[in-house]
Amino acid sequence: LTQPVIMAGGSGTRLWPLSRAGYPKQFLVLGGDADRSDSLFQQAVRRLQGLDGAELAVAAPLIVGNEDHRFLCLDQLRELKVEPAAVLLEPVGRNTAPAVTLAALAAQSDGQDPVLVVTPADQTVTDEPAFAAALKQAVLAAADGAVVILGITPDRPETGYGYILTGEPDARGVAPVQRFVEKPDAATAARYLAEGCYAWNAGIFVLRASTWLKALGSFRPDIAQATQAAWDGRATDAKFVRPAKAAFAAVPSESVDYAVMERCPGSPFAIQMVALNAGWNDLGAWDAVWQVSGKDAGGNASVGDAIIKDSENVLVHATSRLVSAVGLKDVVVVETPDAVLVADRARSQEVKQIVNQLTKQG
Ligand code: GDD
Ligand code: MG
Repeated sequence: LTQPVIMAGGSGTRLWPLSRAGYPKQFLVLGGDADRSDSLFQQAVRRLQGLDGAELAVAAPLIVGNEDHRFLCLDQLRELKVEPAAVLLEPVGRNTAPAVTLAALAAQSDGQDPVLVVTPADQTVTDEPAFAAALKQAVLAAADGAVVILGITPDRPETGYGYILTGEPDARGVAPVQRFVEKPDAATAARYLAEGCYAWNAGIFVLRASTWLKALGSFRPDIAQATQAAWDGRATDAKFVRPAKAAFAAVPSESVDYAVMERCPGSPFAIQMVALNAGWNDLGAWDAVWQVSGKDAGGNASVGDAIIKDSENVLVHATSRLVSAVGLKDVVVVETPDAVLVADRARSQEVKQIVNQLTKQG
């Protein structure tokens, strides 16, 4: 059995001011082709449902999200006519390692040990058949207990991603991972790109529920035990499952990548990488949204009411007013009724710091 798990509890702060605490980016309709009206979350759900066609016996998805967005989640699933296996609701975000642990515990609760296909809810993929083929390869490789991740060929020194170094792929295209480095600094990312032998981590990973729990228990027993305690105190209300509030709030906050993936190479938990060539994009920050947007001859992209003159590689996203730009280069402008962002496109990652500052003031 293949169990899709969608991690949908992030706050999406780097896409501020469009992405807000009450309505984070995974629930927004963003970028890609103009006629696409699915949110990023809906696209993620649909893509995994599509694996059914790849003969993988795909179960109904497990969603791990935040309590505050439970109705957004349900409404968007209803639009897709997808009935989830369960929606696991975190009272507070503790990053992805505890989220995946909740999903692994839920997946095992009826005595099974399915292969989890864990995916973020903030990505776009243009070639769905290629996506399904790579995922099928990954599921087969994970069935015997391996940790499998998906690798993307990098085209820029992005600092928001994990970087993967592998050995030679075997006949199936599965390669052993020798090194995993999460979010290197700019100089290191530029070096990895120049070396030409690193892949980006797509953020999708495929492994048995038991493999995840064993690996986490070995590298971060504190997270494993604290999450188990919160799970043991859970309350179930139809499709909603809530871990015990105070216990979950006490779980150390850490991402899958730092808690487990970086520590796997050289450990008993070997990672395998399957290449993913499917027009993958993580819409992590405004620069990535610009990358996937349709552009005019000058490389400018716009959404909403915008006039762009004599500019180059600019992104304008207007929601409530006319926004006009003259003579700009590599700039992002995002307009909403109560906040406007104007930023150097290359420094999109730093928008997170503005949100941090606002949260502190607020
Ligand atoms: N349930 C839940 N709870 N989900 C969360 C939480 C949480 O506390 N925090 C984040 N998520 C969700 C986000 O909504 C997103 O869909 C996914 O988990 C990944 O989290 P991000 O915060 O977007 O991670 P990232 O983009 O910085 O880095 C990851 O993805 C990159 C590729 O997109 C890493 O895996 C990188 O190595 C990878 O390159
Ligand atoms: Mg992301």
